[in-house]
Amino acid sequence: MTKVIFIEHDGTEHEVDAENGTNLMEAATNNLVPGIDADCGGACACATCMIYVPDEWTAKLPPKEDMEETMLDFCEHAESNSRLSCQIQVSDELEGIRVTMPVSQH
Ligand code: FES
Repeated sequence: MTKVIFIEHDGTEHEVDAENGTNLMEAATNNLVPGIDADCGGACACATCMIYVPDEWTAKLPPKEDMEETMLDFCEHAESNSRLSCQIQVSDELEGIRVTMPVSQH
């Protein structure tokens, strides 16, 4: 299990124990964290699972695949540190990661 902290746009924090091998979107939805809608169920086709990742964690994440990049390009609230949480696998390396959800997802 890996501790992940999801932070809503208003600052409300949700700490969850995520199972390694699942992804961050599943970690949120399995724990009823508001702000991760995941309309497409993890197919990298909706961008309603977007998170902002602090710079210090970026290097620990897998690089974006083309499809994730394309989805984020169409996302109004995307920033340079945006990722789709369904594309990030949970592992020990992410212990304690803190990610934020955009105001559009609540
Ligand atoms: Fe749809 Fe991540 S759940 S893009």
